[in-house]
Amino acid sequence: MEKVKTAVLCSGGGTNFQAIFNAQEAGLISHGEIVLVISDHEEAFALERAKRVGIPTAVFDRKKFPDRDVREQKILACLREGEIGLVVLAGFMTILSPVFIAAYEKRIINIHPALLPSFGGRGFFGLHVHEAVLKAGVKVTGATVHYVTAECDAGPIIAQRAVEVFEDDTPETLQKRVMREAEWVILPAAVEKVCKKLSGEK
Ligand code: GAR
Repeated sequence: MEKVKTAVLCSGGGTNFQAIFNAQEAGLISHGEIVLVISDHEEAFALERAKRVGIPTAVFDRKKFPDRDVREQKILACLREGEIGLVVLAGFMTILSPVFIAAYEKRIINIHPALLPSFGGRGFFGLHVHEAVLKAGVKVTGATVHYVTAECDAGPIIAQRAVEVFEDDTPETLQKRVMREAEWVILPAAVEKVCKKLSGEK
């Protein structure tokens, strides 16, 4: 069986990339393989993480390529060259265009730090999500892995996990707990699940 070549797109710290990589190293991902990390921020620590573990990287920095369509075309060329079968958005902070999404239909998944359809859509990214969760006063939040479709954060859900909100949480403490208890658990599992499906095994 040929493994599904997987690219991880990151803009920041890359802890979700690290979680997928660690799962792969632990033998928990057998139908896919991370072969590329792409970032739209040249200073993203995710790039450093990838280099440390020997995964090739590519950077299309937002400052150097301010036009999203130009960046996307470069990323698409890179994905095609690498014969990428699955794209994982792991803290990738640019909303992709319908053109990009159509090019990789049903082959792009995203991790979102809340229980969609709550606290999703434009403007809900990173710490802003956890700020909104605390402001709303909900007692449970979590994370969602979903397929990426043209409507932001609204594609079919692949996996979710709930996380309790504590009285004394700050956006930072909540973010950390959502990552540790939900994101780093469900994203690697979803990558394996989707790769298995893409590789033809049910
Ligand atoms: C994660 O919490 C991820 O869910 C979130 O950004 C963080 C990236 O952290 N993504 C979004 O908000 C997308 N809308 P990481 O770079 O350490 O994986």
